[in-house]
Amino acid sequence: MKLHDQSALVTGAGSGIGRAIALLLAQEGAHVGVLDFNANGARETVDLITQNGGKALALVADVSDAPQMQNAVAALVEASGRLDIIVANAGINGVWAPVDDLEADEWDKTLAVNLKGTFLTFKYAVPHLKVRGGSAMIVASMHGTRTYTIAGSTAYACSKGAQVVFAKKMALELARHKIRVNVLCPGSTKTHVNDDRVLRNIESINLNIQYAPGSKLPLLGRPAEPEEIAPLALFLASEDSGFISGAEIHIDGGQSLVIA
Ligand code: NAI
Repeated sequence: MKLHDQSALVTGAGSGIGRAIALLLAQEGAHVGVLDFNANGARETVDLITQNGGKALALVADVSDAPQMQNAVAALVEASGRLDIIVANAGINGVWAPVDDLEADEWDKTLAVNLKGTFLTFKYAVPHLKVRGGSAMIVASMHGTRTYTIAGSTAYACSKGAQVVFAKKMALELARHKIRVNVLCPGSTKTHVNDDRVLRNIESINLNIQYAPGSKLPLLGRPAEPEEIAPLALFLASEDSGFISGAEIHIDGGQSLVIA
């Protein structure tokens, strides 16, 4: 097992990509802190892990809330005795609207979960990673890092682009502590991320983009399954990627190449 005896924190692990990553890291021997503000989702993921003989702890917290994140990280370290891997994955699409129609609190909410949540995950986890070194990763998106073509998603795209900047700053700052920091940039993936998305007046935004028929999902003609994203997280968590830091890796079946 590639992660024997290690401890990993995965945020947003109650669903989708985070759940698939948590399951795979646990399968490779990690004790996984399954963090989500959806308690049922977190418990379901923990049950899936323990049914397979793995070790996991449900951590119910909002990634944008500093005291909740501090307590969640402390609870995981108390239970597992260490922390080696963090995956800042929790994210929302938020409200997609023309800029003059987007409310300030809607902008704040998207940035609070996606960007401040990433910062808080690092803020409280990094002191523990410094003990032995480790691997930190962020789930950003192709959106805001290589493509800008979805109407109205300005706050989301800005949060995702800023996650890449954050990762590069962290890769340099934490290198002397032997902490590697990398970014996964998925394309369309079949999850629940669109369930709470609000689209408002986006038809009024005309980006004048033409797609060749069938070109949007070039590799397989379909979105990814979360289980197709998780192996990249395992690679970045393990010593197989021991010389990789500061990288952003697009895992999108070539989608970002044709709609960039
Ligand atoms: P999902 O909605 O299935 O899972 C996200 C999880 O995060 C949920 O369990 C949700 O309860 C949790 N969450 C949301 N806000 C939270 C908060 N404030 N505190 C704690 N937990 C919170 O969505 P998915 O797709 O698995 O999303 C994971 C990441 O992947 C997100 O950062 C998203 O932006 C990114 N992504 C997703 C893509 C897709 O097509 N599904 C494409 C590119 C990136």
